[in-house]
Amino acid sequence: MMPTTTTVLCPWSDTYSVQIGIIDSQHKSLVNMVNELHQAMLGGMGKQQLGIILSNLIKYTQSHFKTEENLMQSHGYPDYMSHKSAHDSLTKTVLDLQDRFRRNEVGLTVEAMDFLKNWLTNHILGSDKKFAPFLHAKGLR
Ligand code: FEO
Repeated sequence: MMPTTTTVLCPWSDTYSVQIGIIDSQHKSLVNMVNELHQAMLGGMGKQQLGIILSNLIKYTQSHFKTEENLMQSHGYPDYMSHKSAHDSLTKTVLDLQDRFRRNEVGLTVEAMDFLKNWLTNHILGSDKKFAPFLHAKGLR
């Protein structure tokens, strides 16, 4: 049966923007991937397919973190180590979720999706918003 809901878990909002094109573009992709996973979960998609979407989300996240870390390092961002540490912690958390999902210890439930949404948006609104003024001052847009 086709999903009857059009609920979007996490609509993109300009409040998430850090006003740096490449980062906003990657954040939009991440938000879209969380929404895609949510829709797939609501639509009753099978575990294997959900696992593929989750895996793609994690790979894209790791690539996105690398982009930010390279920008911060190349411009000498003073809080680089703290931000890198937040990325490492977020990566570990989501890899743990993936591991438990694969071992059937946790399902991709509404609660798990809320967790992923908060995992992403709290980091953008917290840590990512902090480096934006520094990178703006270096001429990044
Ligand atoms: Fe956009 Fe620090 O991750």
